[in-house]
Amino acid sequence: MMNEIKGETDMFLPDDEEFTRFHLHYQQIMALYESAIQCVSMRLNIMEKEAGVSGKHNPIRSISSRIKQPLSINRKLRNRGMPLTTKSIMENLHDVAGVRIICEYLSDVYKVRDNLLADGFMELLLEKDYIKTPKPNGYRSLHLIIAVPVPFKTGVQKVICELQLRTTAMDTWAALEHSLRYKKDRPCGPEIDRELLECADMLSKTDVKMQRIAEQLRIFE
Ligand code: GTP
Ligand code: MG
Repeated sequence: MMNEIKGETDMFLPDDEEFTRFHLHYQQIMALYESAIQCVSMRLNIMEKEAGVSGKHNPIRSISSRIKQPLSINRKLRNRGMPLTTKSIMENLHDVAGVRIICEYLSDVYKVRDNLLADGFMELLLEKDYIKTPKPNGYRSLHLIIAVPVPFKTGVQKVICELQLRTTAMDTWAALEHSLRYKKDRPCGPEIDRELLECADMLSKTDVKMQRIAEQLRIFE
């Protein structure tokens, strides 16, 4: 099988001191980001549990997370003309740790946001509300860049994490649009752009309607 891999056949891992040090430090910072994701996930899981035992509507439908891949980290830093060092990753990238929260209704998105930030445990560094102000292509989500205090035995360390909160409808659009277009070098043309925007707007109208229906049925009480 391995012989069938085309291209460079004589790659080697440089085992000089510098590479070994970089590799170790890279693993250490990735462990920081993974721990931050665990802290955020724990908070969200508790929120879900609380909703479960209260018998009230659970604002969270699903939670997923990811650590940015080394190739994406490399590409992003390179595109911005920034050095590929562990210090540079920590200072310049805010989406190495990412958590995505899917909610059922529009109001749930803001409820989860408010609940997460209510006690000041997590510090809000930046908020981008692409629901109130969608991207020109129709993308909608609420993005929060937060500093998460992670308790290590050497002390508490604040780690930056990107949260994306969206409704199921917004997620459907983003997932399909991502595979069709986002960051691909495939030019779609203005007609496709317009159609994708139309889809986003239709889904947004559906979100508003479903919110109204849920309110009429007193789902949130
Ligand atoms: P990135 O370099 O892509 O991380 O963008 P940014 O740092 O300028 O932040 P932005 O808030 O624009 O986007 C962050 C993330 O939101 C992206 O990595 C995607 O996961 C998602 N996103 C943003 N815009 C779009 C879009 O047009 N379509 C889709 N499908 N996802 C998007
Ligand atoms: Mg990103």
